[in-house]
Amino acid sequence: MIQTLLDEFSRRFGPGDAPRRFFAPGRVNLIGEHTDYNGGHVFPCALTLGTYCAARVRADRTLRLFSLNFPDAGVVETTIDQATPLPGGSWANYVLGVVRAFTDAGHALPAGLDMAFWGDIPAGSGLSSSAALEVLVGTALKGLFGLRVSGTEIALLSQRAENDFIGLSCGIMDQFASAMGKRDHAIFLDTQTLEYQYAPLALTGAHIVIVNSMCKHALAGSAYNDRRAECERALAALRTVRPGLPSLGALTPEEFDALSGAIPDAVCRKRARHAVYENARTLDAFDALRRGDLAAFGQLMNASHVSLRDDYAVSCGEVDALVDIAWRCPGVLGARITGGGFGGCTVNIVSDAAAAQFTETVRREYAARTGLDAQIYTVSAGDGAREVLE
Ligand code: GLA
Repeated sequence: MIQTLLDEFSRRFGPGDAPRRFFAPGRVNLIGEHTDYNGGHVFPCALTLGTYCAARVRADRTLRLFSLNFPDAGVVETTIDQATPLPGGSWANYVLGVVRAFTDAGHALPAGLDMAFWGDIPAGSGLSSSAALEVLVGTALKGLFGLRVSGTEIALLSQRAENDFIGLSCGIMDQFASAMGKRDHAIFLDTQTLEYQYAPLALTGAHIVIVNSMCKHALAGSAYNDRRAECERALAALRTVRPGLPSLGALTPEEFDALSGAIPDAVCRKRARHAVYENARTLDAFDALRRGDLAAFGQLMNASHVSLRDDYAVSCGEVDALVDIAWRCPGVLGARITGGGFGGCTVNIVSDAAAAQFTETVRREYAARTGLDAQIYTVSAGDGAREVLE
């Protein structure tokens, strides 16, 4: 595919120096959902699916962008100094947002660029195609202009782009996983401090399977921002009884249960309960994985789904059907919705022996229940964003 991308680059941008190539992965979150903007823990891993770009520095300040995933948009031409989003929700805004975040953070960008992109993360699936694109641009800017910026900083600047330029108040998880992923490892990240540990994904006798529901509900972005606002209201209410409480993630479930009466709104109370309990589950899941207790890990995943469905209300009928089918399949250790929600994917831990049966059952039963064709991917954890040198 890299060759197709390079061919397209020459076709769109003409002859000149060979472009450099960069890659940034998508991610799947094993557990710790909607905890990252609540100061809790997350446990994602980077995928081997991701987005590539071919990029070359120009002599002027023009910025030309082309994506093989959005060919109808043609070449988007602007400048490296473009400060506001392009109209019509252009895909290129994810690129411009990162350029702007770097500039605002004081990284001088000395010239324009020609950039061509291609990725194999299904868009809108909850596997972070947008974070991969942002982190990819940050990685390319670092490489092409020799900027002194760490992987964590690239993640933070990419999150800034998403928050300020795109308008989604996301947390740090997706960009961090894309920037900092490690082959065959999951990342246990404390989003309050950004301290992290890599946990070997030694799933003896089992593997991770992602199932794409192939549905994405409209207004997911605004519903996401609503959830975040509800958590903030809950935190403000809790601070009336616990002054200085830094985040929902700072509470144990027991502490939360003792204080939760201070949250007057029942909906906000449920959202906060999810955030607190999910964080506790994530800590337990990290321990379970270290002990090699996949059964316990799977149970925590299942409980995560129930909480996301009932307390956080970010699942939907189609995804609940996928999880329900998985829970009934022999050899499934755990199954839950993954990512922001409102459609998208489930993540499943499936024993090797049951894999073929799982695929067959999920395809058949999901089609029967919803009329949709689920896409199924067996996943291995990959490395984070990098220049492609081979
Ligand atoms: C989206 C956001 C992340 C995180 C997840 C939910 O993927 O980008 O920051 O909040 O939803 O866990």
